[in-house]
Amino acid sequence: MKFFVDTGDIADIRQLQDAGLIDGVTTNPSLVLKANRPIKDLLKEICEVTDGPVSGEVASIEFDGMMREGKILAGIASNIVVKLPLTLDGLKACRRFSDEGLKTNVTLCFSANQALLAAKAGATYISPFVGRLDDINVDGMELVSDIRRIYDNYGFKTQILAASIRTANQIRTAALLGADVCTVPPATLRALVEHPLTLKGLDAFVKDWAAAGQAIE
Ligand code: E4P
Repeated sequence: MKFFVDTGDIADIRQLQDAGLIDGVTTNPSLVLKANRPIKDLLKEICEVTDGPVSGEVASIEFDGMMREGKILAGIASNIVVKLPLTLDGLKACRRFSDEGLKTNVTLCFSANQALLAAKAGATYISPFVGRLDDINVDGMELVSDIRRIYDNYGFKTQILAASIRTANQIRTAALLGADVCTVPPATLRALVEHPLTLKGLDAFVKDWAAAGQAIE
């Protein structure tokens, strides 16, 4: 399973990229607001840090505007993925971009039927929002599982990008269910590394090594 980091924070992206932990980046209008920078500058800099897929979301909710904005975003760098909302206009734009050979990420997916439509529209990625479903007491991972089964039934190549991820446990479940990618906030990604027994064991090894008085030279 690939990891994308879900942020517009360049320092976080750089750190996680340097550590070899991420395969790409996702952004959305809320993350651009948080980054407080012009979207084109922000996406350009992210694409300089990583050559993995970088999702940039259109702001328009109408087909013509999506096409215009999507082309501008795609012109920023060759690794930009045009992110489109799961609406009729978004699906139409997805079909058009896909026919033109551009990569797309269909976002705000909350049902298996929506995911089926996105795959039929040629989406590169479908983003089921796991956490936001869990927030309303609907099992977000059941959606990931349903999409996996449907895509496998028909051989759709659209990649399942589990989104709106908040916990390490959700990442484990997404991996077990066969999600192709998880997009994860920076802090949650960093937290994956940590285990109290790792730290306890390392502490004991450091002490024993000092007592051994050796050096590896
Ligand atoms: C995905 O691409 C979205 O940007 C993101 O995962 C949404 O997460 P949230 O529900 O935590 O805002």
